[in-house]
Amino acid sequence: MAEIVAGIGISHVPALTPFLVTQEQLTPEERGSGVQAFFDAGEWLREQNPDVAVLIYNDHGAEMSLALVPTFLVGAAEEYPPADEGNGIDSSIPEFPGDPDLSWHIIDNVVPAGFDLAVGQKMAVDHGLWTPMRALFGGHREQWPVKVVPVVVNVVQQPTPTARRCFELGQAIGQALRSYPEDTRIAVIGTGGMSHQLQGPRAGYINEEFDRSFLSRIVEAPEELADLTNAEYVHLAGSEGAELVMWLVMRGIMNSDVDEVLSGYHVPVSSTGAGVVAMTNR
Ligand code: DHB
Ligand code: FE
Repeated sequence: MAEIVAGIGISHVPALTPFLVTQEQLTPEERGSGVQAFFDAGEWLREQNPDVAVLIYNDHGAEMSLALVPTFLVGAAEEYPPADEGNGIDSSIPEFPGDPDLSWHIIDNVVPAGFDLAVGQKMAVDHGLWTPMRALFGGHREQWPVKVVPVVVNVVQQPTPTARRCFELGQAIGQALRSYPEDTRIAVIGTGGMSHQLQGPRAGYINEEFDRSFLSRIVEAPEELADLTNAEYVHLAGSEGAELVMWLVMRGIMNSDVDEVLSGYHVPVSSTGAGVVAMTNR
């Protein structure tokens, strides 16, 4: 049977990859615990030896423009090329191998459970997916050591799904994963945030206090986070910090009781609070 071997929440701000490169030559003491946590998360994840990463992210208008916005989409492709985000395709990013069998197992279970997913059989993926993959598996590589199943959430065009709905989608995907008959080791990675706002009068807004409380509540009190309205996310975390609802898909996939492995926070990375948390099912 499949086993969920890791749950991770992590920022996907593009500047995270070059930022971590600048820290590579430093000692853990020089980096500080908030930055070291990103290195430790990757090392710990690789030790869990996952075969597949179910990765929850949002497209930022690279592959899915406002012309076509699915609320929830699960990828079911053989492979996912990196998207062109305006500067051409980054040839240093290898294609991401897919796992269509696992994708269809999720889709076949989650749609009858009441989540009317869109399905992506040909799609490119943007920095929402590749920033966490680079941060956790290393930025410079010829091929990725895991397959991916992308789960795409609309956090761009109103109305976006509620945190509660994201949590419940995660619970439905979790049930599907637990019934997958193959001996597949699955890592679940929720991405986005932490607090940031890239536009309007509050551009540059960061709320460190909220981010730190989110990092502990995503482990111990996800129900509290699922109860927050989208307006509260925008108010507390900024208009783009509202991406944090995607961490609740990850948390819903995990068991209700989890053990925290590590967490860390560094501010700022670009114009965001950057955070990471890792957990295992109890
Ligand atoms: C930026 C982009 C993101 O998608 C995000 O979540 C945070 C920051 C950026 O371009 O700085
Ligand atoms: Fe983003």
